[in-house]
Amino acid sequence: MTNDLTSESVQTALKNAAVCVMLLPRFLLAAVMLWLLDFLCIRRKVLTKMRESDLSSPDDPPLCVSDSNKMFTLESLRAVWYGHKLDFFKTARLGGAAPNTEVVPLDSASRRGAQRILDYARGRRPLILNFGSSFQRVARQYADIADSLLVYIEEAHPSDGWVSSDAPYQIPRHRCLEDRLRAAELMNREAQGSAVVVDTMENSSNSAYGAYFERLYILKDEKVVYQGGRGPEGYRVSELRDWLERYRSDLEASNAETVVHV
Ligand SMILES: *[C@@H]1O[C@H](CO)[C@@H](O)[C@H](O)[C@H]1NC(C)=O
Repeated sequence: MTNDLTSESVQTALKNAAVCVMLLPRFLLAAVMLWLLDFLCIRRKVLTKMRESDLSSPDDPPLCVSDSNKMFTLESLRAVWYGHKLDFFKTARLGGAAPNTEVVPLDSASRRGAQRILDYARGRRPLILNFGSSFQRVARQYADIADSLLVYIEEAHPSDGWVSSDAPYQIPRHRCLEDRLRAAELMNREAQGSAVVVDTMENSSNSAYGAYFERLYILKDEKVVYQGGRGPEGYRVSELRDWLERYRSDLEASNAETVVHV
């Protein structure tokens, strides 16, 4: 019995060590990047480059970091490590089953009974999962073929953590669900159109989808059909739009075919 326990704890320790070793290179790379970005001349150059690069599109939120924000701090390193860990352990995989985690709807009227992410999928229509800020233009433009769900997770830049003066609101870490709902309410003022839910206090959607800091997904037939990169760099609304555009033309093509065959 004690032997079993020791071997189990040894196994856990080994597993943790393995994870650390695997995550260390990317973490160190990110840390060096943050450190370099604290030299303002480098920061300005990098930001301008990113804005000018072919990859950036008007749909993507611009990366902006004010000069006054320090990037290389204990809090920022902690946040980056946490993000890498979530990404590593997430269960959502492209082509795999969509994790059906519990969420809490914003309006109290629909808060009866447990709600889950897939409850928001309607038939075979794609469901855009947006763990980030709202992008109403794109959501509205594709509303005829896809639904969207804004999932509000923990703050990327809480006022008592990795503070950023570029955040639209200064919100402290959520201590309870009420805090989180209140913060989501604040953001929701601008998010008309898509349904808004918040993650549970166990952060189960955030963990399953590796959503922190922000991320985009598309689910269809209970599967992950599009998985965006880790935000902020990987958060690309333009990529999402490309997927939807392709889906729309496939849909039109197959509709045309049915009409011909009937
Ligand atoms: C979920 O995130 C919040 C921060 O918003 C944190 O306070 C809480 O401890 C987290 N829950 C778990 C189970 O890690």
